[in-house]
Amino acid sequence: MTRGRSTIAIVRSIPSAADVSRRLYASQTTSVAAKSLKEKLVEIIPSKVEEVKYVRTTYGSKPLGSVTVDMAYGGMRGIKGLIWEGSVLDPEEGIRFRGYTIPECQKLLPAAEDGAEPLPEGLFWLLMTGEVPSATEVKGLSAEWAARSSIPAHVIDILDRCPNTLHPMSQLALAVNALQHESKFAKAYAQGVHRNSYWEYIFEDTMDLIAKLPLVAARIYRNVYKDGTVGEIDPKLDWGANYAKLLGYSDKNFIDLMRLYLTIHSDHEGGNVSAHTAHLVGSALSDPYYCYAASMNGLAGPLHGLANQEVLRWVLKMQKDVGLQPTDEQVKEYIWKTLKGGQVVPGYGHAVLRKTDPRYTCQREFALKHLPNDPLFKLVSQLYNIVPAVLTEHGKTKNPWPNVDAHSGVLLQHYGLVEEDYYTVMFGVSRSLGALAGVVWDRILGLPIERPKSLSTQDVRNMFEKK
Ligand SMILES: CC(C)(COP(=O)(O)OP(=O)(O)OC[C@H]1O[C@@H](n2cnc3c(N)ncnc32)[C@H](O)[C@@H]1OP(=O)(O)O)[C@@H](O)C(=O)NCCC(=O)NCCS
Repeated sequence: MTRGRSTIAIVRSIPSAADVSRRLYASQTTSVAAKSLKEKLVEIIPSKVEEVKYVRTTYGSKPLGSVTVDMAYGGMRGIKGLIWEGSVLDPEEGIRFRGYTIPECQKLLPAAEDGAEPLPEGLFWLLMTGEVPSATEVKGLSAEWAARSSIPAHVIDILDRCPNTLHPMSQLALAVNALQHESKFAKAYAQGVHRNSYWEYIFEDTMDLIAKLPLVAARIYRNVYKDGTVGEIDPKLDWGANYAKLLGYSDKNFIDLMRLYLTIHSDHEGGNVSAHTAHLVGSALSDPYYCYAASMNGLAGPLHGLANQEVLRWVLKMQKDVGLQPTDEQVKEYIWKTLKGGQVVPGYGHAVLRKTDPRYTCQREFALKHLPNDPLFKLVSQLYNIVPAVLTEHGKTKNPWPNVDAHSGVLLQHYGLVEEDYYTVMFGVSRSLGALAGVVWDRILGLPIERPKSLSTQDVRNMFEKK
């Protein structure tokens, strides 16, 4: 038998990812008229691939900008060197998901029957397809994720054996690496599946992993802070409502907050640490489990996702140091003390944004609607009035305005989720939507392994000093 023939035989022995998806969908959704996300993707992929071909053929040799020595030393800030389809970040305006601002998403994306905030399933559909889904399509996605949600016994066992002192983010990455055992892409690749269908298995893994995250993340929470018991996924509920209930919260407003939270933390274009890490790791054809676990290790850094935990600690410490209702002068002093101590003010500043983060603004609006008199919210508002001026006077940060992390903790505290060490896990659950949508599109477009050129300092000197 020739090599080519044996490869074909192996490919045939693997159930087609499209078949698996179709069968799953048919068994789970009530409406046969609505398309599944997979079917929608199959429909739009050819024109998108053609568009990318056209852009590369027409503009392939055009420069996107120039790179200075400072940029190379400065975290590659401002270098245009990545393609990311899901979202683009404007320094003044903030994030647009496939062209839609956050307020537009709040208006256009389907909400749950008992809620007002967008369902994160709808945002994922938008990130993946560029189209606003119908309520029926979103319902189908909720049902599909519920059906894919179970986690294997060995993952439960690993989580149950973790010491409560192991940070929840470490537990998340650990559990997702253990879940990698389930990767359909890794198995298909080992059997020699044709590269043209890689994306289908990557899509299957992405759907499975997103579906399993509420059970994984809730188990971490329930083990570390509660009695270790975890409920079951309700197939009639949406992803956010299930996650909230598994955590142990059933307040209607908290559930709606969860949907908003999971929507707005999902994606922030491709260059941030968590999204870029997923893209980079995926470029080696590591499967979505590996990509996401690596991405979570980046999100766990205090300059990135862990800032939401740091904000809460910093605010609570201020209250401890200067009282529950500090004066503006006391707040100012506390900020200066932080800066003079060589620390950052958590929740403020951004590598790209130069205005108040619209993710901050929409959380503030949620607070004004649901918890206007919460004392901690009042303190966060007070900080909003004081920190930017102090940071401006300090004169270092390019953006003195608040980012998403400055506000999220106070909302969670209000509803009783007071364990701030856990907050970055919630951010991480949401980030799966954007980071993994990016990984799926990377494989649809067949992007190559990432390998930017690095230079030594001596190389840089040689470039400018040697004749
Ligand atoms: C987000 C962040 C990492 C962006 O970093 P960046 O792109 O390097 O930001 P800038 O270009 O404005 O940094 C210039 C200087 O201002 C400092 N700076 C930026 N934000 C600051 C803040 N909130 N408090 C104190 N100093 C800050 C930087 O540390 C840097 O100092 P250095 O030159 O001594 O190294 C940074 O603003 C920060 O550390 N913020 C606090 C942590 C946080 O909220 N992270 C979540 C981001 S969504």
